[in-house]
Amino acid sequence: NSIPVPPPRSPPTLPPSQPAIFIPVDRSPEIQEARLLLPILAEEQVVMEAVTHNRVVVISGETGSGKTTQVPQFLYEAGYASGDGIIGVTEPRRVAAVSMSQRVAKEMNLSDRVVSYQIRYEGNTTENTKIKFMTDGVLLKEIQRDFLLTKYKVIIIDEAHERSVYTDILIGLLSRIVPLRAKRGRPLKLIIMSATLRVEDFTANESLFPARPPVIEVGTRQFAVTVHFNKRTPLDDYAGEAFRKICKIHRMLPPGGILVFLTGQAEVHSLCRRLRRSFPHRPVPDPGEGEGRKSQTWIDLANYSSVPLEEEEAEDREAGSDGDGEAGSEADLDLGDGDGAEAGECLTPGVSPVFRPAPGGTRLCVVATNVAETSLTIPGIKYVVDCGKSKRRFYDQLTGVSTFRVTWISQASANQRAGRAGRTEPGHCYRLYSSAVFADFEEFSPAEITRRPVDDLVLQMKDLNIEKSLVSAEELLISLGALVEPLQTGRYKELERAKLSCPISPLGRAMASFPVAPRYAKMLALSRQHDCMQYAITLVSALTVRELFEEFNRPAVNEEETQKLKGKRARVAQMQRIWAGQGVSLKLGDLMVVLGAVGACEFAGCTLHFCTQNGLRYKAMLEIRRLRAQLTNATNAIYPEAGLFVDPKMKPPLESQVTMLRQMVLAGLGDQVARRLPPGEVLEDKWRNAYKTPLLDDPVFIHPSSVLFKQLPEFVVYQEIVETSKMYMKGLTEIEAEWIPLLLPRYTHFEKPLESPPPSYCPDTGRVRCHRASTFYRVGWQLPAV
Ligand code: CDP
Ligand code: MG
Repeated sequence: NSIPVPPPRSPPTLPPSQPAIFIPVDRSPEIQEARLLLPILAEEQVVMEAVTHNRVVVISGETGSGKTTQVPQFLYEAGYASGDGIIGVTEPRRVAAVSMSQRVAKEMNLSDRVVSYQIRYEGNTTENTKIKFMTDGVLLKEIQRDFLLTKYKVIIIDEAHERSVYTDILIGLLSRIVPLRAKRGRPLKLIIMSATLRVEDFTANESLFPARPPVIEVGTRQFAVTVHFNKRTPLDDYAGEAFRKICKIHRMLPPGGILVFLTGQAEVHSLCRRLRRSFPHRPVPDPGEGEGRKSQTWIDLANYSSVPLEEEEAEDREAGSDGDGEAGSEADLDLGDGDGAEAGECLTPGVSPVFRPAPGGTRLCVVATNVAETSLTIPGIKYVVDCGKSKRRFYDQLTGVSTFRVTWISQASANQRAGRAGRTEPGHCYRLYSSAVFADFEEFSPAEITRRPVDDLVLQMKDLNIEKSLVSAEELLISLGALVEPLQTGRYKELERAKLSCPISPLGRAMASFPVAPRYAKMLALSRQHDCMQYAITLVSALTVRELFEEFNRPAVNEEETQKLKGKRARVAQMQRIWAGQGVSLKLGDLMVVLGAVGACEFAGCTLHFCTQNGLRYKAMLEIRRLRAQLTNATNAIYPEAGLFVDPKMKPPLESQVTMLRQMVLAGLGDQVARRLPPGEVLEDKWRNAYKTPLLDDPVFIHPSSVLFKQLPEFVVYQEIVETSKMYMKGLTEIEAEWIPLLLPRYTHFEKPLESPPPSYCPDTGRVRCHRASTFYRVGWQLPAV
């Protein structure tokens, strides 16, 4: 079973019209040898000729064929990064942008000043950077500043098959930018790389690329993967089922790494813990029972789930992800990072343990969320255990309620997961579900744009400020199929309404400059008044990370643990009451708790000890610290005169500042206001202590974990509604009725027309000017007309 080795590489032969540039790269012999095994190496000449003769080229090949790591190197050697332009590569996930830049730098024996990355506001690019890996959101931001992307000679859009929102939009915009650049005599090459799925999404689309771009298919060296279905599908306990399967593989089957797909970070952690307990990290002594026993094996767990950047990203997200991949924590910071907020990603600087070979006599076992599905290839995997599910965020556009749900994956995803087992030799994929269930999977997962809010995109696109390209981008979104589904769900209307009839406002422009979701951007833009910026930054950071507190609501194994958990819950509740304070401060509600927790934690030096004592999630607190610093830097770049500095040990806000912060929260989350039903109007029992929101017919309630649970203020703003036994509002702030018509005239129903002009935002001072409409208004609200 020898592997066919492609012929040694030679410099690409370029047609005579082209200067034959060849920039030498000094690779180590081991690297060179490893590269020669990658299928794409055999296609270098084909790729480079296609790029020379076409503006747009599509490269498709199985994951692991070498697209991401090698194509940028081909381009570099052919001179695409010499002189006045560089090579840009976009990835939908931060973790891929970082780890790929490190890998390529290492392969090329170049420093990270030359092969660099940029994600959200973090990166190591320099003026010497020649190859720049970035998240797709980062490139979208750059288009905003420089529509023609003059600094690039080539743009590679990687992982296009994932159909991430930003990737879809980028391809749409680039299809217009590429001809414009050609007209200016400074051609820009576009390379779209994708797994072998859905290539026709990009090629067979005339409004996208009228001349059908050539597709280079990279042959694969995929070995056969035997797929084993479970006879029955376990209903819920797929993690337990995965554990049993891993033990069985480990005990009975020949050496080879195991890759396990679960749905969220919490699950990944708990399975890892369980495995570590069963297979401690030391060689087990040989029981000497016969040949078949592999005495020296142990399981080396490197989990690759999200470290939510935020939650260790949003609960991993990332977004992000996710929050630890947990539903709650998906971060939506950053447009700058599409970031992959999907199900948690792990951003480990340096080489992650998953890329290191397992020590001799051991077995590598990687437990991951779907981040390992296509963007990362982990060497040495022979067995895949697939639970068949992934955690996805669903967003109800009408009600604004977003939920994380664990759902079955698509057939395409299941096949991708299985393929991970056949990279280096024939492998096995154990599907923890039956073939009948598989037959019911959808063929592909729906493009992301059909299942997330689009407010941030609309704002970014407006800020591009180029009417024509906006129209084309929109057409393209439609032609990309991105808007077909929204049309059915009514979401298309939102884009349409925002089209050209509504030009971007000064406030919108200020908002677009912050790398956070529009509602948070509005809070930041407004918070320049009354010296509130550092609090606003803290709140936005914390709200992005979410789930600051441990929940301690896992089922206890015995009475002793029950008591322990009860004690911990009581401690958290007590600290929350202390941090919420009294009087005016309590009106800021759960957001005051957030400020208090962050302030106290930083005062204590943000130690693990302090967090454990007070039920705070240590990783979340570290992430907040990081985001605060980043947002402060971003704000300083936008408003140099503000001269903010990062003061982790902020003082508690003054009363006047608390009031300002409450107004700011209302201004940012104006559509998330709820009013308590006056007790006199409560007829049915189900409406006792209920609140009414403009969007939902059903009653909503204050979540018992909120510090305002007993206060029952008349008007509140909520961060989110979660649906469990009832609809519960979380993250509450009390607001005053009379602020609503002043700050949110569009949501207010006025009995008489406003006599004075509506409030306006002054970008120079960061202030909102409004004229009190005296007695004419009646507080209530209605939706803006559609
Ligand atoms: O992009 P594509 O999936 O086609 O492949 P790639 O990401 O360029 O990976 C090519 C090879 O490099 C795979 O065998 C990876 O395992 C390896 N690689 C690695 O060893 N370390 C990294 N940090 C990244 C990739
Ligand atoms: Mg790749």
